[in-house]
Amino acid sequence: MSEQNKTARKILVTSALPYANGSLHLGHLLETIQTDIWVRFQKQRGHQCTYVCADDAHGTAIMLTAEKNGLTPEQQIANVKAEHEKDFDGFLIDFDNYHSTHSDENKTLSEDFYKKLRANGHIASREITQLFDPEKELFLADRYIKGSCPKCKTDDQYGDNCEACGATYSPADLINPKSAISGATPVEKQSTHYFLTLASFEDMLKEWTQSGRLQPQIANKLNEWLEPGLQEWDISRDAPYFGFEIPDAPGKYFYVWLDAPIGYMASFQNYCQKAGIDFNDYWGADSEAELYHFIGKDIINFHGLFWPAMLESAGYRKPTAIFAHGFLTVNQQKMSKSRGTFIKAQTYLEHLDAEYLRYYYAAKLSAAVDDIDLNLTDFVQRVNSDLVGKVINIASRSAKFITKKHDGIMADQLDNPELWQQGVSKGEEIANYFEQREYSKALREIMALADATNEYFDSQEPWALAKQAGQEQKVLAISSQCINMFRLIMTYLKPILPVTAAKAEAFLNSDLLWVDEIQPLLGHHINKFKPMMSRIEMDKVDAIVEASKEEQAVAAPKAEKKAKKQKPAEPATPSEIEFEDFAKVDLRIAEIVNAEHVEGADKLLKLTLSLGEEQKQVFAGIKSAYGPEDLIGKLTVMVANLKPRKMRFGMSEGMVLAAGPGGEDIWLLEPHKGAQAGMRVK
Ligand code: MSP
Ligand code: ZN
Repeated sequence: MSEQNKTARKILVTSALPYANGSLHLGHLLETIQTDIWVRFQKQRGHQCTYVCADDAHGTAIMLTAEKNGLTPEQQIANVKAEHEKDFDGFLIDFDNYHSTHSDENKTLSEDFYKKLRANGHIASREITQLFDPEKELFLADRYIKGSCPKCKTDDQYGDNCEACGATYSPADLINPKSAISGATPVEKQSTHYFLTLASFEDMLKEWTQSGRLQPQIANKLNEWLEPGLQEWDISRDAPYFGFEIPDAPGKYFYVWLDAPIGYMASFQNYCQKAGIDFNDYWGADSEAELYHFIGKDIINFHGLFWPAMLESAGYRKPTAIFAHGFLTVNQQKMSKSRGTFIKAQTYLEHLDAEYLRYYYAAKLSAAVDDIDLNLTDFVQRVNSDLVGKVINIASRSAKFITKKHDGIMADQLDNPELWQQGVSKGEEIANYFEQREYSKALREIMALADATNEYFDSQEPWALAKQAGQEQKVLAISSQCINMFRLIMTYLKPILPVTAAKAEAFLNSDLLWVDEIQPLLGHHINKFKPMMSRIEMDKVDAIVEASKEEQAVAAPKAEKKAKKQKPAEPATPSEIEFEDFAKVDLRIAEIVNAEHVEGADKLLKLTLSLGEEQKQVFAGIKSAYGPEDLIGKLTVMVANLKPRKMRFGMSEGMVLAAGPGGEDIWLLEPHKGAQAGMRVK
């Protein structure tokens, strides 16, 4: 057993549980990638680290979405969970367990929590008055009530704040309030609610938040809530609700945020049964295991106040620390559907490898709570220059000197022991940066090693020496040195780039271990170099943005927009459709009577399409492959009954059909001779 293993830490790590109410997007991935890198790092260092997560499956929004989709909530959450798991897998997120808050474990645990909280006198109940939808027979949360702003009178504002003047108010103050669900006028209604009396935990929470386990920004924020004294927290919701019924209160359900963090435990318990681990080793009040929650900055009150209070009362341990991160922006702006920067996990994966994004996020991430910007141009440049241009390049330019002339057997001595030693001794610093979640600093050190290695290679000019007689051993020594440096660098990059690391291991015939001091490969046999990673083409990124724009119907009225957010993604490609589904698509032969460039659009051509009687205008993202002159007079196939879409440059009244991945590789469909404009394609 190695030195490291003797002191192996027991660590349990979680990422926040995504709502089972929609697709994952690149913002969610910022969190899971950050967490996954940390977990992989701990595992690589020989620690016993377990990573669990789950879908957060309860709440009104999920209930309504299911209804809208004609599904039971159980079917709805099963579909979304399958999609989430597939996406996480695509991004190489290596959970040890992925569960659901709608599980037996979570039900039992949540009831148990509640009983303990109640027995300890931490649950209060009283009548409250709330707006109620008499048609839908549902109490309405603020976001489900709309009306005119009491201050500036703007119509169509939500129940808690006005988007026009910024006023905040309570939904009862709205002029002419309406239920956003049924349109009915809400009425006031009383109902008994259950509360967690947080005030009893204030001393514990003040101490806990100031104990140095939290990032200073987070501790300060929590303190702002703690200072004026904590209100009671409403933990119940009335039927109809999708969740767990409160044991002694028929018709009352646990509010989704009560059972959500318990879902961390439930997922772990589910894992314990499979893996034969002792649950109490990790969650018992005197557990010595480490427990970390990675979360976004928007949910720190739940994790930093309510959750520790619940744990304390129910007799469990509290987290060792909470690691909060900021929000993702794309090109310095909030992710936007109309700009095509609200990018779903699936959409990204249809065009690019996960490791590019993992690397870019790592290059941006630190332990701070600042927002992180995905600049799409920088993303392409950075990945290409660092990974392909610097790191992989070391192996690709050195390997051939070893495999061609020496049967793949490396030199039995280092040519530059100082450079090697420099790389090895940087290891601890890099490891500390990973441990501290200072990934960007870790990468700066790792890239400095790649630079030093490339400089060494260039200064030695092995390609020139290779042409001189009697220099074979020197050339072998130089390239072996570089292969050893490559191995070191890939060892440090392994938590970020698991797939490329596996390719490197196959090439090097050696595992990239990072437990004991790393020894160089001497007289060691390596395999023929095969390309490990290709450059990102900007076209692919453009295609992602285009596809993300297409996913939304721009003309959707504002009222629908908020509701759309909740809507789950359709399954990527339905495996089978009914003929009637196909028959809904009105495919027509269209003649391209005009095609022109669109000012200010890099990718679009404006096409005027004739269907015989009728003409339609379509904006097509094919400029990278066609000029207007290539198209005018040609026949193609269009979807003629696509709902018109308002684009920045005008209305688009359909879609032309084309194949290919994008960029120059787009091929428009063209019918055989004889087809006439306007003919139905069926
Ligand atoms: N279901 C709750 C969490 C319950 S944890 C017991 C929830 N779900 S969520 O789907 O809205 O968000 C899941 C995580 O993703 C949260 O930590 C959230 O902060 C994070 N992110 C969601 N959008 C994000 C960005 N745009 N950028 C970075 N992280 C974001 O909250
Ligand atoms: Zn207003």
